[in-house]
Amino acid sequence: MTDHIAIEDTADGVRLIRIDRPEKKNALTGAMYKAMRDALVGADASETIGAVVFAGAPGAFSAGNDLADFVAGARKPFSEAPALHFIRQLARTRTPMVAAVDGIAVGIGTTLTLHCDLVYASPAARFRMPFVELGLVPEAASSYLLPRRVGLLKATEMLLLSQPFDADEAVALGLANAVMPAGLLLEHAMAQAGRLAALPRGAVAATRALIRGDQAAMEAALEAEAVAFEARLRAPEAQAAFAAFLNRGRPS
Ligand code: COA
Repeated sequence: MTDHIAIEDTADGVRLIRIDRPEKKNALTGAMYKAMRDALVGADASETIGAVVFAGAPGAFSAGNDLADFVAGARKPFSEAPALHFIRQLARTRTPMVAAVDGIAVGIGTTLTLHCDLVYASPAARFRMPFVELGLVPEAASSYLLPRRVGLLKATEMLLLSQPFDADEAVALGLANAVMPAGLLLEHAMAQAGRLAALPRGAVAATRALIRGDQAAMEAALEAEAVAFEARLRAPEAQAAFAAFLNRGRPS
C-alpha cells in the first residue's frame, strides 16, 4: 500500500495513474512501483478499462528511481526488485497508455514514456536519462527503443552523455506528440485516452502489436539490461554516485 500512487477510473474507460510524491519530486519507491504494476495488470484484466494515463505532480512527472532505494536494493537480488516487475509489466501491457509529462522526467520518468502510445508534454518538461553518470546502464528497454526512435547518434548523446531534452525537442525527435500548456495537459491526455478507450478493443490490440514490432526482441533487450543493471548497482561507481546525491549539502 502506498499513498504516493493515486488510481482513478473514469466513466469513459480510462485509468489514471497519478504519481503523487511531490516532496521528493515524485521519486519512485518499491511500493510505488508495485502499485503501478498492479494498476497495469488490473487494466489488462478489466473489461471496462480501455486506456491508461500516467501523470505526475505539477512540475514533477518523476525524478526516477528513489536513490535511497537503490542503495538499499543493491544488497537484494534484482530479480525481486519491484522496479523490474513494473518495467516488465510496462513492456507487456496490452492496454494503450498515454503519458502527460509536466516538469522533470528523469530516468524511468523518461524511459516509461517510450512504452506509451501517446505522449504529451508541457513547456516545462525536462527529460533526462543519467544512468551512466550514476554508474548504471539504461533500463526499460531504452537501449533498444531509443536508437530505433531517434537514431544511434542521438540516442548515444542521451544515454551516454545524459543529455537532457525539453518538450519541443521531444516532439521534434518523435518522443512526444505535442506540447500542451500545463493547465490543459492532463485534460488533453485524458481526452485522447478516452478516444482510445472508445475504439474496438481487438483492433486496437492488433494495431498496437503491428506498430510496436518485435516484442520478443524488445523484451530480450530489457532482460539483458536487467542483468547488467544488477551488476552495476553493486559497483563502487554507482554506490559512490548514490551517496554523493544523498549526502548533498551535508558537511563532510
Ligand atoms: N531519489 C530520492 N530522493 C530524491 C530523488 C531521487 N531520485 N530526486 C529528488 N529527491 C529528493 C531530494 O533529495 C529532496 O529531498 P529533501 O528535500 O528531503 O532533501 C527533494 O526530493 C527535492 O529534490 P531537490 O533536488 O531539492 O529538487 P531540485 O528541483 O533542486 O532538483 C532534480 C530536482 C530531479 C533535478 C534532482 O532532485 C535530482 O537530480 N534528483 C535525482 C534524479 C536521479 O538521478 N534519478 C535517478 C535516475 S536513474
